[in-house]
This record gives sequence, C-alpha cells and structure tokens, in this order.
Amino acid sequence: MRPVCVVGAGTMGRGIAQVALAAGHRVVLCDPEAEQLTNAVDEIGRRLTRKDPSTAAGALQRLATAHRIEQVADVANPLVIEAVVERLDVKVSVLTAAIQRFGAGTILATNTSSLSVTEIAAGVPNPERVVGMHFFNPVPAMRLVEVVRGRQSDEDVVQETAEIARAWGKEVAFVRSSPGFIVNRVARAYYGEALRLVEERSVSPECVDELMRAGNGFRMGPFELMDLIGVEVNDTVTHAVWSGFNFEPRFAPSVLQAEMAAAGLHGRKTCRGFYDYREGTSRALPQPVDAVPCLPTGAVLVGHDRDLATLWRRAAGHDLPGEEGDGRAGLLRLGDLGLIKLTDGRTAHDEAQRRGAPVVLVDRCLDPATSRAVAITGTDHRLIGATASLLAAAGVTAYLVADTPGLIAARILAMIANEAWETVQQGTATAEDVDRAMVLGTNYPCGPIEWARRFGASTVCAVLDHAHDEYRDPRYRTGRGLRVAAAASS
Ligand SMILES: NC(=O)c1ccc[n+]([C@@H]2O[C@H](COP(=O)([O-])OP(=O)(O)OC[C@H]3O[C@@H](n4cnc5c(N)ncnc54)[C@H](O)[C@@H]3O)[C@@H](O)[C@H]2O)c1
Repeated sequence: MRPVCVVGAGTMGRGIAQVALAAGHRVVLCDPEAEQLTNAVDEIGRRLTRKDPSTAAGALQRLATAHRIEQVADVANPLVIEAVVERLDVKVSVLTAAIQRFGAGTILATNTSSLSVTEIAAGVPNPERVVGMHFFNPVPAMRLVEVVRGRQSDEDVVQETAEIARAWGKEVAFVRSSPGFIVNRVARAYYGEALRLVEERSVSPECVDELMRAGNGFRMGPFELMDLIGVEVNDTVTHAVWSGFNFEPRFAPSVLQAEMAAAGLHGRKTCRGFYDYREGTSRALPQPVDAVPCLPTGAVLVGHDRDLATLWRRAAGHDLPGEEGDGRAGLLRLGDLGLIKLTDGRTAHDEAQRRGAPVVLVDRCLDPATSRAVAITGTDHRLIGATASLLAAAGVTAYLVADTPGLIAARILAMIANEAWETVQQGTATAEDVDRAMVLGTNYPCGPIEWARRFGASTVCAVLDHAHDEYRDPRYRTGRGLRVAAAASS
C-alpha cells in the first residue's frame, strides 16, 4: 500500500488525510503553519474516534506531520496529494519539491478545483506523474472523486490513482483536464440560467428555489445554494470557467451576482444574500395561483404527451379519453376555455397565435408522477385558474410566471443537459461519468444525460432553439452532441 503525503492541512487536506488513514495507509500531513497542523491532527482524531472508536487509535499511530516536504523521512514512492492554496506557482513548487524528495516513482496528485492540471504538470520535472484528484467538501461524506487526466499524464498513473480512490470508498469520474472539469462546468447552468430568469424579471429567486426543490427533487434551489456556497465564491468560479472557455456566452457571468458580490451580500456567512438570514427576519414564500382542486369538464387529450397524461391521471385517478392529434405535440383541450400544453420553448403568446385559441403553458419537471410544484404561464385568466385547479387536484401547486421561453425548470434543465452533452461530445468525459459526477458531486436527483433522454433530446433541443429564436443570444445555441442525440431519438 503506497504511503500518502497530504500537503496542506486546511479544510480539504485534513479530510483527505482522514479517509487515507481510515483506509489503512501511512499518512504524512504537511503544512508550514504549526497551528493548522495541530488543529488538523486534533480534528482528524475526533472524527475518526466518532466514526469507529475501536480503530481510531491504530489509525492515528499511522499519522505523522511535517512543516516541509524536505523534512519527511522514511517514505518510499508515496502518493502525494496537494491541497494547498489555489495558486499555480504554489502548487507547482509543492509538487516539484515532492518529486525531488521522493523520486520518479511518486504519484503527484493535485486537488485543484479551477486550475489546469496540464498547466500545473508542465511546471513540474516529471509531468507524466501528475494527475488531478478532485475531492468534494466534506471529503469523508462526499462519494465522488474526479480523476483528471492532464495532457501528459501517464495512463498507468491515472488508473492507479483511480484504484486508490475506489479503495477509499469513493466513486470515480474520469475527466480530461479542462475548465471546471465535469461538476463545476456542467453545474454552472444551474446558477447561470436561474440568475438570467431573475434578471429578466420572469420569476423571483424564492419561486425558482421552490420549483427546483418541490417540483424537481433537487435538495436545494440555485439561490439558496449560492447563499450557502458564497455568492462571491460562486461568481469567481463562473469567471474561471468562462475565461477558461475563451469567454463562451453559455458561461457568461451574471451582472446581478457581481453586484451582490460587490455589495458584500455573500449569503449565509454575511447574513444576507439572496435571502435575509438576520435574526427576526423570515423567508418570503412564493405566491401560488389561487386554486380549488377540481377537474375541468369537457377535457380531451389531443395527440400524445406522456407527461401531460400522467398529470391528468394523478388528478382524476383514471386516463383521459384521447383524440387523434394533428401531428404536433400533445395537449389538453378544456372545452371552449382553451388549450393546456407543456412548454417546448415557445411563448404562450406565440402558441395562442399559432393555434387560434387561449393557451396555458405548463413547465416541465423531472418526474410528473411525483412533482409537487410547477410554473405556469398563459394568455387567459380563466384558463390559468382552471389549469391551477386541475394541477391542485393532482397535488401540484402552480406558480404563475412571466411568459418566458422555456419557462423555468425546463430552461434550467435544458441548459444543464446541453452542457453535459457538450462535455461528452468534446471527449472530456463519457456520458456515464458525467451523470455519475453530477449525481454524486452535486446531489442532483438524476444525471443530466439521463434526464435529457427522459424528456427526449429533441424536446431539450426545441426548448433551447425557441429560446435562441426569442433572445438571439448565442448562449442558447445547442451543441452538436445534443443535436446528434435528438436526431437519433426522433
Ligand atoms: N474547500 C473546498 O470546498 C474545496 C473543494 C475542492 C477543492 N478545493 C481545493 O483544495 C485546495 C485547498 O483548499 P482548502 O479549502 O482546503 O484551503 P484551506 O485554506 O483551508 O487550506 C490550505 C492550506 O494549505 C496550507 N499551505 C499554503 N501554502 C502551503 C505550502 N506551500 N505548503 C504546504 N501547505 C501550504 C495553508 O497553511 C492551509 O493550511 C485548493 O486548491 C482548493 O481550490 C477546495
């Protein structure tokens, strides 16, 4: 078993040292700050004891500390994992010192979250020995490690690093070194699109959060998550990915977020962010559409829409008689009142004009069988009320939003899925690794490639194409990966 040398005894370093000790390795923890080292050893001891008192003492006997790599003795061919400050020069000098101290059999792993593994490796005498080992915080609890291949990484080094991570109880997603790797890249759309929707005043932050949580099974909505991460930290990551991809419009930072960062509204840690955490304040709740649960009379399902049929079945307890469609996507006709349709990215105004009848558009959700909240928009107040009542009968709360292309969840989810497909198309990671990374690294309810397949890649394409037509903004252009998937599925 390779000995492990963890450099940097901060938040990440102590978590990594803990899991390596628990897996049976000898571990040396290095940090120039004496107090950091003492605190880290105390914390690791407490955590190991809490987890398993019978093995903690033995594990702690395998832990040594040092202030400098040059002082580490009796260690052969270690796995060195650096978790020092996020600076290229510091990481390069730490890994260079490590290879000089321990020799060419050493594996040099960097826990960088935003720097290029290729660039770090290029500054080190043996670049083929350098690999990314991107852990997530808190390390003992988070199951994902992104194993990052630099341009010059030796494949044996990559595979052995992955084996070690698996032996530590982690699941591995392989990724080629590129900005944000998988998780920090694909997740950008969760924040970025939510910010866009609020910036264009289509919806409030608290309504987006409710729709993503109660409507789609996410543990946290994007705004409460930004408040937890730190609004300014999230903004910095966005800038890193945006500039890393040569200012690609899909990653363009948000003016709203930058303003909040500048104002010191950083979220929970400053007691104010998108929400107010000061004592005596309470969180504003989004206002649902007034509705009394009831089934409309004279409803007919025209054409085929599996998700609309599921919502009806939830409301009525039985299937709805159907009519042959006109070749277009399925919809629900409510007698003379108008038409209800799931969004495909067109606005309600456009749909009403195309179809010559009032229209209500219902947002999409990951699972219509369990969703408890959904956004709606429409051209007629009576039809909006009837739709909200139908949804209430299905146990779904309806929130009225502006007549926005792709509404809320469908647009956010489509942007995430497009990025996921682009990551696969560019050979940065496989579809399986992208989905695994997003589920384990961000706690998404399912992987974006899987949900694109569920929605139908052609529906995801349609949502983005219509948003592109409406805004003429290149951020909504679909990637070739998604288009190929859409063509294959239709
Ligand atoms: N915190 C997270 O959520 C998170 C998640 C994934 C990756 N990362 C990455 O992990 C790395 C560490 O992050 P952190 O949050 O643990 O930082 P931290 O500030 O908590 O700890 C950094 C530690 O590195 C030490 N250090 C600085 N220069 C050093 C040197 N030359 N040699 C040895 N030790 C040195 C500091 O004394 C400090 O103890 C960064 O690259 C960060 O981007 C952080």
